Amino acid sequence: MSLAQRAMEHRLLAPVYQRVWRPAWFLSAMAFDVPHFLHEREKAVTALRLEPGDRVLDIACGPGNFTGDYASAVGAPGLAVGIDLSRPMLTRALVDNAGTGAHYVQGSAHLLPFADGSFDAVACYGALYLIPDPFRAVAEMIRVVRPEGRVAVMTSVAPDAVRRLAQRAVGPAGLRVFGPHEVTERLEAAGFGEVSQETHGFFQYVAGTAPP
Ligand SMILES: C[S@@+](CC[C@H](N)C(=O)[O-])C[C@H]1O[C@@H](n2cnc3c(N)ncnc32)[C@H](O)[C@@H]1O
Repeated sequence: MSLAQRAMEHRLLAPVYQRVWRPAWFLSAMAFDVPHFLHEREKAVTALRLEPGDRVLDIACGPGNFTGDYASAVGAPGLAVGIDLSRPMLTRALVDNAGTGAHYVQGSAHLLPFADGSFDAVACYGALYLIPDPFRAVAEMIRVVRPEGRVAVMTSVAPDAVRRLAQRAVGPAGLRVFGPHEVTERLEAAGFGEVSQETHGFFQYVAGTAPP
């Protein structure tokens, strides 16, 4: 297990992840784009085009910090499921982000325990860069979203000129820095339309609509 994932499994990280760890690390990687950071969760709901009654899956949900917002957006007739490998993170999700009707499952992004086309929307925020086989995880996202459903990803990115250097810096911890087109090209190759990409510092937000 990589150093990064070992940290995610540590029982002392989960309680401080949402309020301390994420703002500290993510804001610095976003070049302190505070206005964007503060609206990240509502932007995710918009990117996924969530409607009341939708079924939404949050892959690598951590302490459910986005899953809770997804659950509020889809309401009681809908279904919001967060899946993560880390038991301490999921325990925290049940404490902090379950009141909204979110459900949590322990499992791997590499092999999602859901049937093809089960969800109207599938998200993976802040995690693809530490998943050992990220493109297998992307293939799983594509598998479980329904035709014309939405997929949204937030992960690392760097321009080609600095990517090798950045990868050398974070690689030993088990983190990956994606090239500018690696994620968008996967979705386009799978027939996705309306593929969008927004970059904030070393993070990118990619979304797209599954083919009919
Ligand atoms: C930095 S947290 C992201 C939490 C949340 N999505 C966010 O954006 O703040 C990364 C999460 O990915 C989870 N994770 C890493 N590899 C995974 C895998 N193969 N399958 C499922 N979850 C994984 C970790 O346990 C951790 O909770």
